[in-house]
Amino acid sequence: MVELFEYGADDSTLSKDQIVDFVAEQDSFFEPPLQSRGVVLADYVDKILRQGHVICAVNDENRLVGMIMFYCNDMETRTAFVTWLAVAENARAQGIGSLLISETLEFCKKHGMDYYETCTWKTNEALIAVYQRKFGARILKEKEELGRVTMHLRVDLKNR
Ligand SMILES: CC(C)(COP(=O)(O)OP(=O)(O)OC[C@H]1O[C@@H](n2cnc3c(N)ncnc32)[C@H](O)[C@@H]1OP(=O)(O)O)[C@@H](O)C(=O)NCCC(=O)NCCS
Repeated sequence: MVELFEYGADDSTLSKDQIVDFVAEQDSFFEPPLQSRGVVLADYVDKILRQGHVICAVNDENRLVGMIMFYCNDMETRTAFVTWLAVAENARAQGIGSLLISETLEFCKKHGMDYYETCTWKTNEALIAVYQRKFGARILKEKEELGRVTMHLRVDLKNR
């Protein structure tokens, strides 16, 4: 069983260091890893905590097992953007990633967004398939960037 909550919105016992440590732990699964692009993970998390939102999934032992980070503040285009999503390796394929996406879709709709967008690398086929199959995402564009192809996905929140 996992519990989801927005970091900073309640009396969570998780510290910011735990968030940054989780991002660091998962970084090698990203193509390319954020750190290989010179991103300072503590600054990256800080910026999202200031301007965006972080939804955490914790297990019964209060361990962080999944997390999604996103911006939901563009009231002109009413487009939310998910910048980071990962589930701990030993907790994958149990529905936690889908749960985090679902919760974020609801959150963004409730906060007046019309669209939910995200980007991932083209070889992340399982995730792209999930977005399309479970959440009705469509591919907005395919782009060559930093030596690999990225897929830009969009979920329309208006008809959900
Ligand atoms: C992508 C990720 C967040 C998915 O999290 P998850 O908790 O495993 O996802 P779910 O359990 O909800 O699985 C969703 C679907 O993915 C597929 N899937 C999950 N694990 C899979 C695996 N090992 N192999 C193939 N497909 C898999 C399944 O089709 C599943 O759909 P189903 O519920 O209909 O069976 C996780 O794999 C991850 O952290 N990957 C590394 C980081 C990453 O890729 N982040 C996204 C960057 S944009």
